[in-house]
Amino acid sequence: MKKTVLVTGGAGYIGSHTAYLLAQQGYDVIIIDKLLHNQPFNHNWCTLIKEDFANKDVLKDIFKSYNVDSVVHFAAFIEVGESVIYPQRFYENNVLKTFELLDSMLTHGVKKFIYSSSCAVYGNPIKIPMDENHPKNPVSPYGKNKLAVEFILEDYSKAYDLKYIALRYFNAAGAFPEAGLGEMHNPETHIIPLLLRAILSQKPFKIFGDNYNSKDGTCIRDYVHVRDISDAHVKALDHLEKTGASDFFNLGTGTGYTVKELINSAEKICAAKANLIYAERRDGDVDALVADLSKASDILNWKPAFSNLEFILKSALRWEEKVSLEKNEIITSV
Ligand code: UFG
Repeated sequence: MKKTVLVTGGAGYIGSHTAYLLAQQGYDVIIIDKLLHNQPFNHNWCTLIKEDFANKDVLKDIFKSYNVDSVVHFAAFIEVGESVIYPQRFYENNVLKTFELLDSMLTHGVKKFIYSSSCAVYGNPIKIPMDENHPKNPVSPYGKNKLAVEFILEDYSKAYDLKYIALRYFNAAGAFPEAGLGEMHNPETHIIPLLLRAILSQKPFKIFGDNYNSKDGTCIRDYVHVRDISDAHVKALDHLEKTGASDFFNLGTGTGYTVKELINSAEKICAAKANLIYAERRDGDVDALVADLSKASDILNWKPAFSNLEFILKSALRWEEKVSLEKNEIITSV
């Protein structure tokens, strides 16, 4: 019999790619998402409920109407810099509302949970690559939100038999334009879409800080294709269903690129130069984030298949072109 999975934030960037893959793998997918970014979302492989993921009455109806077996929780505020300016909003949305969601799940006997965590739980690196035992000293409220929920999950699993897997993403990137899926934040803050839009429109692109501890002074990040991240969720859910073993896993490639290296690659792919501006550091950014992925590879049998930088950038570029074509407008920098 088909299993039903509730995906919060399933109309968002990583959520939509994962929901799609879950549907492809034979799950009945219910998405709860209030379409925060006003993104169009018309897909026939899921049921979309346009509501807040922490609305207890709506959750009650969902848990009563559908035989939900597990919850995959993406819905969250995600901008590290914004979390520094508005911590209250972030604690409310990312911690308190997750608490409400877990409460509803337990009330209705739903005990399998896959959680979108982040490498932001580690803070500044003590060693690179970072494995799951790396000390956790998050520097941003966003990273602290993610760690706070991880603590809740640990305690709930002991006390209430909740089974969970927390996946700590490094930098999700790329798109799946052929499935009509890609990054559509409003406003967009992530480097790859902003950089591609700036190059294509010949508008300036800001590099946030060039005095970081790296070979060229710009931040190092581990860019992992969103389709690989989705695949890890499907594998994590399967692992949880088979073993019931709660755990934490890093999702990254093990290779880091500086912002300048990323710009060089994007320039090659677009066959055009970026118009660069050097700006101040952005609050909450750390020098380097690179994953040790051995644990996910050994236990979940997960290996990134789409995450070489060229493929990531090309897929993101195809997505930008598709969106701009559909909007029938020239891509402009934000
Ligand atoms: N950057 C620029 N200019 C820009 C945008 C970004 O120089 O216009 C730089 C940032 O300073 C950073 C790098 O590009 O060094 C990557 O920035 P992103 O905003 O693309 O990604 P973040 O690393 O800040 O954040 C993302 C997710 C978080 C997650 C984090 C973990 O949004 O949810 O990755 O690395 F926690």
